Amino acid sequence: MKILVINGPNLNMLGVREPDIYGRQDYAALTAFVRGVCEKLGVECECFQSNHEGAIVDAIQAAYGAVDGIVINPAAYTHTSVAILDALKAVAIPAVEVHLSDVSKREAFRHVSYAGMACEATFAGYGFDGYRLAVEYLVQHHG
Ligand code: DQA
Repeated sequence: MKILVINGPNLNMLGVREPDIYGRQDYAALTAFVRGVCEKLGVECECFQSNHEGAIVDAIQAAYGAVDGIVINPAAYTHTSVAILDALKAVAIPAVEVHLSDVSKREAFRHVSYAGMACEATFAGYGFDGYRLAVEYLVQHHG
């Protein structure tokens, strides 16, 4: 099984960015964590991060026919991007949404998730562990 892990804008600033919300570990630590999880489960994984909405749409389109599952933290684009929602619907690859923080307990504008409408499950508020839960979900349901 092959999984694409997509992280959206400002997640490259992990560790520096609002550490009380997003933690003190950086993006390299996140990708190392995800790779470790995937290795244990015998899953091939590719990690992609971009601050650009169109680049994320391109990555989702390029995944068509190439991966079996998508784990996506669209970051701020979660709450704004119909383009990412449409891309996920277009490729129809099983997708799971992740947020480091519990978006449901934050500002009202974070309560809407467009990308989430095309995802089978959401794990929010578990920090890095949410990515493990998402990979496990995909393995259990689509592996
Ligand atoms: C986030 C939550 C979003 O609301 C925010 O814009 C982010 C990160 C999270 O992982 O908790 O950039 O997706």
